[in-house]
Amino acid sequence: MDRYHVITFGCQMNKHDSERIAGLLEARGMSPAPSVEDADVIVFNTCCVRENADDRLLGQVASLKSLKTGGRPDVLIAVGGCIGQRDGAAITERLPHVDVVFGTHNIDALPALLDAAEEGRPAVQVLEGSETFASDLPSRREQPWHAWVPIAVGCDNYCTYCIVPYVRGHERSRPIEAICAEVDRLVADNVREVTLLGQNVNSYGRDRYGAPRFADVLDAVARSGVDRVRFATSHPKDLSDEVIAVMAERPAVCEQLHLPVQSGSNAILRAMNRRYTREHYLDLVDRLRSAMPDIALSTDVIVGFPGETDEDFEQTLDLFRSVRYDQAFTFIYSPREGTPAATLPDPVPRSVIQERFDRLVEIVQASAHEASRRLLGTNQRILVEGASKRDERMLTGRTVSGRIVHVPVADGSIAAEKAGEFVDVHITDAQTWFLLGEPIA
Ligand code: SAH
Ligand code: SF4
Ligand code: F3S
Repeated sequence: MDRYHVITFGCQMNKHDSERIAGLLEARGMSPAPSVEDADVIVFNTCCVRENADDRLLGQVASLKSLKTGGRPDVLIAVGGCIGQRDGAAITERLPHVDVVFGTHNIDALPALLDAAEEGRPAVQVLEGSETFASDLPSRREQPWHAWVPIAVGCDNYCTYCIVPYVRGHERSRPIEAICAEVDRLVADNVREVTLLGQNVNSYGRDRYGAPRFADVLDAVARSGVDRVRFATSHPKDLSDEVIAVMAERPAVCEQLHLPVQSGSNAILRAMNRRYTREHYLDLVDRLRSAMPDIALSTDVIVGFPGETDEDFEQTLDLFRSVRYDQAFTFIYSPREGTPAATLPDPVPRSVIQERFDRLVEIVQASAHEASRRLLGTNQRILVEGASKRDERMLTGRTVSGRIVHVPVADGSIAAEKAGEFVDVHITDAQTWFLLGEPIA
């Protein structure tokens, strides 16, 4: 067992967990393999939030069977994350060439499970919960200049469509001292940007301190010396004026917010158990924009929740037209077994969903293009992420609002060298999802 390869599906929390998985494997002397073909251990960190994520995993794992039968019988295949947590031993029954199964609560058990599998012992372990945090494990950051910092894990909101509370467990907050100590270490290690993570960062602390303390955490992290702070996800029912004030006051907190709305119809929001109304949501947007006129807003939305009528959907379109998001993740409702919504009658016909989806995407693209055009001709400080994936002679970075900017450079090595540095650029072109810029001398 010398080389590992981790394949990650799903949300930012999974990206974080994968960095801890890599850190654990490196702590026992392993090194990263660029592809599955070069790896001795292949780890799938999985997601089951929608059906297509499920299917993709099955397909990819199944395709590795030929690797094992085709001359690499010793390769170990491990499946962890949310599907591991949900399905446990059923995974090895369905896919007998999988050697190890672990869940969301026992990432730390992976090395021991790999040893067990190598010795031919059973290596399937899923726990109901945990007292520890994966963030206390060693980490290998994918980008040296960026760190994911979970402040809470799990979720107690039980939105009726959502599997997350069942696979991530109850909400548990990390102590504020542990978060600050970690951020201090990261700053000393030249990290430029941190993203605070939780399924609902705004309820941070309720379980530990009896009251939400997200504003305190955000303020403390913003004063740590880190250049940029982002956070996700914010539940609209819990976003407080204190948090908005810290965002507006602390220069390190990026004026960018992901605020999932899910639907613009009160009837659907109620059926989803979201516990806010469209009026409350629109009022929040007003308060955010009066505190921070340039704030970039993004959202998640679900099309085709059971019982969604044309009128409900018009309400969603109307909300999108008035908020004018910088970016939106549009999802088609996917029934998840075990969630309350999966048993609801009145599914929306597929063709109707597709038509609604297309109309919504059109509005999203228009407002995203508008958000890009607002930056045309301005000067922006970007944090460089490296060479552009489509063109070696471009470097790619993000504005404080999170928009991607491509900047031409003489050659690709310059782009790679500048990763993690700030560069001031003049925006010369605005496309829907990215900008072009030129360095300011
Ligand atoms: N905790 C976060 C995000 C959780 S999952 C939040 O509360 O916003 C990310 C997104 O996936 C959700 O915001 C939702 O839009 C979408 N999603 C979750 N379950 C879904 C389902 N069953 N079908 C379609 N989309 C879903
Ligand atoms: Fe899922 Fe709702 Fe929790 Fe988000 S807040 S993880 S959508 S149950
Ligand atoms: Fe998916 Fe699990 Fe995240 S289901 S969205 S990886 S919490």
